[in-house]
Order: sequence, then C-alpha cells, then structure tokens
Amino acid sequence: MDILESIKDRRSINFFEIGKEIPDGVLESLVEIANTAPSSMNLQPWKVIIVKSEEMKDKLVNVAFGQVKVKEASVVFVIVAEPGGLEENIENVLKSWVDLGYMDRATADKYSVMAQNLYSSIDSEKRRIFAVKNASFFAMNLMIAARGFGLETHPMDGFNDLELKKLLQIDDNAIVPLIIACGYKRKGVKLLPRGYRRKFADFVKIV
Ligand SMILES: Cc1cc2nc3c(=O)[nH]c(=O)nc-3n(C[C@H](O)[C@H](O)[C@H](O)COP(=O)(O)O)c2cc1C
Repeated sequence: MDILESIKDRRSINFFEIGKEIPDGVLESLVEIANTAPSSMNLQPWKVIIVKSEEMKDKLVNVAFGQVKVKEASVVFVIVAEPGGLEENIENVLKSWVDLGYMDRATADKYSVMAQNLYSSIDSEKRRIFAVKNASFFAMNLMIAARGFGLETHPMDGFNDLELKKLLQIDDNAIVPLIIACGYKRKGVKLLPRGYRRKFADFVKIV
C-alpha cells in the first residue's frame, strides 16, 4: 500500500471482525517494523504488552470504561513508556554504534554522560516526557504499519490508569500513554466521513 494512502486512509475503527485472529507471524512482523521508529539517541524507552486472550480482554474492557472495541478487536497493544529505558538500553545502543563504526568507544562514553544530562534523573518530569514522547512515535508507527498488513486500529486513552497498571502488573514508574485496539474491519461496515480537521493556515505558522 502506498505510504500516503496508508496515512490518509487510517481511521479509528469501532467495528472489528469478531473472533478473527491475527497470525502470530504478522503480529511479530508488525511490532518489529513499528520498532524501527526514531527515538531520542535511539534509546527506545518503550515496551508493549499484547493483550490477546479473551480472559484478559474481558478484564481490559472494564478498565477501559466498557469500550467494546477492546473486546471485539483481535488484540490490544498496551504501549508502555518507560523512563528507565535510558538505563536499560543505553549500553546496547552505544555498543552497536561502536561496532558499526559510527564512533569510537571514548566518544560513546561521552554520549552516555550527555544522555544522562539531557534526559535528567529517572524520576524527573523531563524523563517522563522523554519516555512518553518516544513511545508515541512507536505507537504511530504501529498504526501506520498495521495498514500495510490490512489491519485497522483504534488508539485509546479512555481507561483507568491505575487499574490498568494493576491488571497488567506494569511498573509504578512507567506510563501508559495509550492502548491500541487492532484487528480486521468488520465486513459491511460503512464508515462515516472523517471528522473535522483544521486547515493548513489554522495551525501552521511560517516564519
Ligand atoms: C491518544 C488518543 C486517545 C484516544 N482515546 C480514545 C478513546 O478512549 N476512545 C475512543 O473512542 N477514541 C479515542 N481516540 C480516537 C480519536 O477520537 C480519533 O483519533 C479522532 O476522533 C480522529 O478520528 P480518526 O482517528 O478516525 O481520524 C483517541 C485517539 C488518540 C490519538
């Protein structure tokens, strides 16, 4: 599918084909492709929980204020933004840059200090913003890539944050900016036209 069509055609889908599974191989490819998203210093401070079982989807619907699409979608991706992703991933990121010839080890060590300074301490507001910002790029990449597999999505932040974290045993320090229902559009469902979007001049300033 053409990239521009894929972006233009994406809609938040309310009606999924009930009971239609996404093959495991497709799920894995989709997540791996989404994972090529850019991130601050390539630190990738996100994790994903794929809610697939009917039992867990039943519980998730309740946490998501009864939004039925959570149950009817094939899976729900829970996007977890992790402030601690910096500490967790930085050595692998720097090692890869050294191994691939981007820089020598001494420069990599300087980058490590730079990252700590730039993104502040693990419990800071700045670090939480770092995590959410980067996880959101992953989330958008996932929704666009899904179109390439003939899949549809619906992003949601209508859920009880604390209950969600408890249900899925997500670390207190992590943030869940959104969850994404994903599956196949139900046959025969006709979408209403896309809702209001501002025009170029309404939100763009050229200086
Ligand atoms: C972060 C985020 C949270 C959202 N939360 C919900 C939600 O909880 N429930 C819902 O029905 N739609 C939710 N939406 C979908 C929006 O309502 C939808 O994207 C918007 O109306 C534009 O429609 P479109 O995506 O089809 O273009 C959310 C979208 C985003 C990006």
